Amino acid sequence: MQFGYSWPSATVLVALATFVGALTGAVPAFAGGDAAAGQAQAAVCGACHGADGASGIDPSYPNLAGQNEAYTLAQLQMIKSGERTVLLMAGQLVAKSDQDMADLAAYYASLPAKVNQAEGSDADLARAEQIYRGGISRKSVAACSACHNPSGSGNAPAGFPGISGQPSAYTIAQLTAYREGDRATDEEHGGMMRGVAGGLTDGEIRLLADYIQGLH
Ligand code: HEC
Ligand code: HEC
Repeated sequence: MQFGYSWPSATVLVALATFVGALTGAVPAFAGGDAAAGQAQAAVCGACHGADGASGIDPSYPNLAGQNEAYTLAQLQMIKSGERTVLLMAGQLVAKSDQDMADLAAYYASLPAKVNQAEGSDADLARAEQIYRGGISRKSVAACSACHNPSGSGNAPAGFPGISGQPSAYTIAQLTAYREGDRATDEEHGGMMRGVAGGLTDGEIRLLADYIQGLH
């Protein structure tokens, strides 16, 4: 099959993920943030993301509670630098130091993750589960579970995000943004999410997003 440009195969991606995971494990861990210092800064964030980090005021706003520290810190750095555009957060991070952002990331990592429910039919959820756990080999879509865990909790040592319980509107927006190349925050991870999402149709993204909303 010929594509305009070729993404690494599913097998290569999973091997890469394992390698990155091993690598991250070998590097001395980042000293880490202070959750109490993070909590002290989080009131303003709670206005949008919910006081518990898990009940955002808009269904398209992501939950932050329970997310691993490395992933949240990396996203905060990229939102601050403008590498990831989040218009609603413009200005929020201007005065934050790396330590402040590490503290915020540690605080959110310490909160219990959101448990949510899917809304789709049994048939739709079964199809989504098949993709989530097995990928779509004819389109080189790697199994989500290889990197995000069968329960959707992610892989903290590797900095792969937990995705379960996120509102489906948020997940749809992110998968579409990766597919269209509008979100390129996976550069450090070899573009793996753009590779995966590149093979997904709008319909498959919708099925997966609903399944992930209910996963735990
Ligand atoms: C005015 C609303 C608003 C405020 C205030 C706000 N955020 Fe956000 N935040 C958003 C929205 C909306 C997104 C998702 C944008 C998108 O679709 O990519 C987001 C995304 C994020 C993400 C990425 C989540 C992920 O799973 O990738 C992190 C981390 C984050 N915010 C942390 C914070 C922190 C920490 C603060 C406080 C310092 C904060 N936000 C304040 C609206 C807000
Ligand atoms: C090879 C590893 C790998 C595979 C396979 C993979 N992902 Fe990811 N995923 C990642 C990494 C790493 C990130 C974070 C990248 C970044 O910083 O933008 C990510 C980010 C995401 C995000 C954004 C999370 C957020 O909070 O914004 C979603 C949603 C997601 N993946 C869904 C999926 C789905 C659905 C599949 C299967 C179709 C999948 N992923 C397969 C590694 C993977």
